[in-house]
Amino acid sequence: MERTMTLQTEQDMEGLGTRIARALPQGGFVALYGDLGAGKTVLCRGVGRALGLGHLSSPTFTIVQEYPTVPPLFHFDAYRLSDEDELYAMGFEDYLDRNGLILMEWADRVPDALPGERLDIEIAGSGVEARRVRLLPHGTDYERLVSEL
Ligand SMILES: Nc1ncnc2c1ncn2[C@@H]1O[C@H](COP(=O)(O)OP(=O)(O)OP(=O)(O)O)[C@@H](O)[C@H]1O
Ligand SMILES: [Mg+2]
Repeated sequence: MERTMTLQTEQDMEGLGTRIARALPQGGFVALYGDLGAGKTVLCRGVGRALGLGHLSSPTFTIVQEYPTVPPLFHFDAYRLSDEDELYAMGFEDYLDRNGLILMEWADRVPDALPGERLDIEIAGSGVEARRVRLLPHGTDYERLVSEL
């Protein structure tokens, strides 16, 4: 079942990412939606923190940033992709096969490439205002994750 929450601060958003990371299944996939400056990268930073990363920046120009954590973290930003073909051309299926944790900012750019089992996170709001976050699980692992958060 989906859940919505209101997060007042950047720290709250990062904390949500950390909690999600700790609950994600092996080979977990998180699709992030929301306008520029919504807080997608902030949430990803929280995921990275759960894996022991002190630093994580947006891979907008490189499309993907790979971190040698355990499990490995693959942070995608599809903002500059025009379609799924561009994602496949950069070896997306190999990333899926590597059983790491995948984060996809701007997932709405590549809807047909997203795995059926995943967590969708939509973030609304910008600037200094509070963010509305909608968590929409697809698949039993993610249903459980969202209900236990
Ligand atoms: N409650 C909040 N949650 C998340 N970020 C917040 C919040 N309040 C303020 N902010 C600020 O909003 C900005 C979010 O930036 P961030 O880079 O995470 O956005 P983004 O969604 O990744 O944008 P882009 O589409 O450009 O990648 C940060 O500067 C952060 O400090
Ligand atoms: Mg970002």
